[in-house]
Amino acid sequence: MRIDHRAAVRQRKHHGLPVTADPFRRRLRSAAVSAAAAAPACRAMRRAPRDTEAVFRRDNKSTGLLPRSALSSPNFYRVPARRHSQECNHWVQEAIIFVKNAWYCAGWDHELSQGKTAVLSRRIAGESVVLYRKLDGAVVALEDRCPHRQAALSLGRKEGDSLRCMYHGMKFGPDGQCNEIPGQTTIPERACVRAFPVVEKDNWIWVWMGDAVKADPALICFSVGPGDAGWNIKTSQVHVKTNYRLEIANLMDLTHIAWVHDATFGGTREYELVRPRMTMRPRGIDSDIWLRNVPVTRFAQHLFPPDMRFDLHFDVQFSVPCNFVLHFKVYVAGTATEGPSDGQLVLDSYSCQAVTPCDADSVQYYYSWGASRATDSPGLSDLLKEAIDAAFLEDKLTLEAQHRNISEKPDFKTIDIVHDAGPGKMLWLLDKMLKEEAAAEKRAIPIAATV
Ligand code: FES
Ligand SMILES: [Fe+2]
Repeated sequence: MRIDHRAAVRQRKHHGLPVTADPFRRRLRSAAVSAAAAAPACRAMRRAPRDTEAVFRRDNKSTGLLPRSALSSPNFYRVPARRHSQECNHWVQEAIIFVKNAWYCAGWDHELSQGKTAVLSRRIAGESVVLYRKLDGAVVALEDRCPHRQAALSLGRKEGDSLRCMYHGMKFGPDGQCNEIPGQTTIPERACVRAFPVVEKDNWIWVWMGDAVKADPALICFSVGPGDAGWNIKTSQVHVKTNYRLEIANLMDLTHIAWVHDATFGGTREYELVRPRMTMRPRGIDSDIWLRNVPVTRFAQHLFPPDMRFDLHFDVQFSVPCNFVLHFKVYVAGTATEGPSDGQLVLDSYSCQAVTPCDADSVQYYYSWGASRATDSPGLSDLLKEAIDAAFLEDKLTLEAQHRNISEKPDFKTIDIVHDAGPGKMLWLLDKMLKEEAAAEKRAIPIAATV
């Protein structure tokens, strides 16, 4: 057998196997044999991207927004690398990874009480933020960093509408300006902390992490909160040690329900055939999905006769950075038409989800689920909450392990399959916004400052 040593080495590299600069052919031959064993799989892998490209081209015709380059690059899910800085002796992110001009969820309103010392500490898009309520109940969001010696203000004390740093006692108003330095009469001009725009809407607290002038509340995503009288919505949250790009990819591909959520939301492999109808918006994507004549999801199987079939309708609004609002309806099979339907409705529900990136390696995931008053019954919304809590632990397990693998081999060349189309679109949109913000920031730097 003639051995192509170069091909063998290439294939070993492709599989992440060690390749030594060994001059002896015996070693190379063994490399070639192991590579040859993997060759059929490799050939299949090389064909897969072409199939995926075809799907992308077909889908893109309908949206007309995506260039062909939106097809996943080798670094599709790649988290930009970090380097260790000698100057400041800590890790520095090499690229901008968060859209700053966006509203990020900082939690449910009930988490922030008017308690004497009630202050919340949050990591949002790589920044430390402290939140508290003023006397009139309005929420204040400040950078969680005292300008004196960088003590955490979240360890401080509320005093009326102000927050006092409990290291050396400097006190800051809700606008971030220092209004007292104990033992000192003059207050330096730079004695202030950054104040972030905040809005409370649908029982969520939203913080704008970018240019305050651009903070438009109309950009906050639509949602249905637990305070909405027409719905019985239950809330929850989970911390996941993963990069938020993996969360975006997960939420934009509902086919994973068949596999990751086999024990909870699963029960049918029809999900693997899901091809959403997508509509791209400037800051998000809408998806419309119908699943016809399928069994009920696993967590509710005990509620219906075993052979009963249903039509499922998923109406999803996904918006930057990672907000997912699902209007989910279940009909008795064969009774629902597309569009405004008069089918036999079994469940009408909303699940509103906000995935807030804390930093490159973790997210705080705020979510809810609940039925409309018209289709609710005692205990039903509790069952939905129980199911979504269990399902999101399944996602957590999957995404944390995936994130560990990607961090370990960031240059590993992955393959693409048909289900990457949805995630590809949303990540392309995110990257487009990141590039635009980076370009705008560069333009905003005055020429004198760059000299
Ligand atoms: S660190 Fe806050 S007052 Fe000194
Ligand atoms: Fe999931």
